[in-house]
Amino acid sequence: MRVLVTGNLGYIGPAVTAELRAAGHQVVGFDTDYYANGYLEPEAWRSDGVDQQLCKDVRDAGAADLAGVEAVVHLAALSNDPTGELDPALTAAINCQATVRLAGLARAAGCRRFIFASSCSIYGQGSRHALTEQSPFNPLTAYARSKVEAEAQLAGLADTGFSPVFLRNATAYGLSPKPRFDLVVNNLTGWAFTQGQVKLLSDGRAWRPIVHIEDIAQACRLALAAPRDAIHNQAFNVGSDAENYQVRQMAEGVAAVVPGARVVFGAGAAADNRTYHVSFAKIRRHLPQFETRWTLARGIRQLYTAFCAVGLTAEEFAGRKFTRLKQLLYLLETQQVDTTLRWRQGAASR
Ligand SMILES: NC(=O)c1ccc[n+]([C@@H]2O[C@H](COP(=O)([O-])OP(=O)(O)OC[C@H]3O[C@@H](n4cnc5c(N)ncnc54)[C@H](O)[C@@H]3O)[C@@H](O)[C@H]2O)c1
Repeated sequence: MRVLVTGNLGYIGPAVTAELRAAGHQVVGFDTDYYANGYLEPEAWRSDGVDQQLCKDVRDAGAADLAGVEAVVHLAALSNDPTGELDPALTAAINCQATVRLAGLARAAGCRRFIFASSCSIYGQGSRHALTEQSPFNPLTAYARSKVEAEAQLAGLADTGFSPVFLRNATAYGLSPKPRFDLVVNNLTGWAFTQGQVKLLSDGRAWRPIVHIEDIAQACRLALAAPRDAIHNQAFNVGSDAENYQVRQMAEGVAAVVPGARVVFGAGAAADNRTYHVSFAKIRRHLPQFETRWTLARGIRQLYTAFCAVGLTAEEFAGRKFTRLKQLLYLLETQQVDTTLRWRQGAASR
C-alpha cells in the first residue's frame, strides 16, 4: 500500500516509517521539518528511509499530494502542551483545521483509511482508574482540546469508503533517531545520566500511561491492515494496562538503571493536575495481534545504553535539539519562521 506519513521527520515518525516499510508498504513522507537538526547521532542513525519526501506544511496540502496514496498516517502536529500554549489559535489551525482538511483531501482522492495520532491527554484529569474510550473527555490544554476537536470533526467525514481511526497514544518513550527529552521517561533518564539525579518537577503522584514508539508504530501498522469493521471510525487507547505508572514510580525505575542516580524533587514541586490512568482493553479486542513489546525498565535501559554510546552531555540534554518548545522559540527568535510558524523565504539554517 502507498501510505502518506505526515510528521515523518519527528520523534515517532521514523519508527512508523520503519514499521510500515518492513511490512512492505511504500511510504511518502510529508513534513515541514521544524526539527531538522534534532538527531542524536547525526550520521550513523539517520534513517529517514522514505520512498518519497514532501517538504511542506500540512496547512498547504493539496490534492496532488494525495495522488496514488491509499492511506494516511497523520502524525504532524504541534506535539505537546507547551508548544500548544504558544498560540492556542495556531494550535487549533495546525492540529485540527489542517488535519480535517487533509482528511477531506484524502477522502476525495480515494484513500480508505486515515490513522490519526490522538492522545490519552484528552482525558486530562481523569476522575477514576482505567479510563476507557467511552470515558468523558477533560482536556486541560490547547493541545488536548485540539485533539478532541479534530477527532470529532474527522468522525464526521467517515463514510462507506473512508475510515478515520483515532489512536489515542499514551505518553511515548524510547529511542528514535530524533529523540525528544520533553517526554517524561526520556526526560528523567536524561536527567539521571547527565546530572546523577532523577529530577521531578512535580510531586510525582500523577498517573500517566506510557508506550514505546515502536509499539505506537505497531498499532499504526495493524490499524492499516485490520478488517474495516474492526476499526471504522473507532478510537483506541494505545498502550498497555501494565504500563500505567505514577511519575515517581518512573523516577524510581530510572534510578534503578542509571548507576549512582537518585530521585530528587525540584523547588516547589507540586501536584500535576494532568493525571490519568487508562484501560487498553479495547485495542486488544479489536486488533488481537497488538501486543506491546516494550516495558518501562527495558525502555530505560535502551535509552541509557544510547546515552552511553553517544556520550550525551548536560548541554545537549538541555538544548533546543531535543525539546520541541525550545526549537520553535529559536526559529521564531531568529525569524526563520513567521508568527504563524511558516518558514520565511530563504530560511536555510535550521
Ligand atoms: N510523543 C508523544 O508522547 C505523543 C503522545 C500522544 C500523541 N502524540 C502525537 O503523535 C504525533 C507525533 O508526535 P511526535 O512525538 O513524533 O512529535 P514531533 O514534534 O517529534 O514530530 C511532529 C512532526 O510534525 C512536523 N510538523 C509540525 N507541524 C507541521 C506542519 N504545520 N506541517 C507539516 N509538518 C509539521 C514537525 O516538523 C515534526 O517533524 C503528534 O500528532 C502528537 O500529538 C505524541
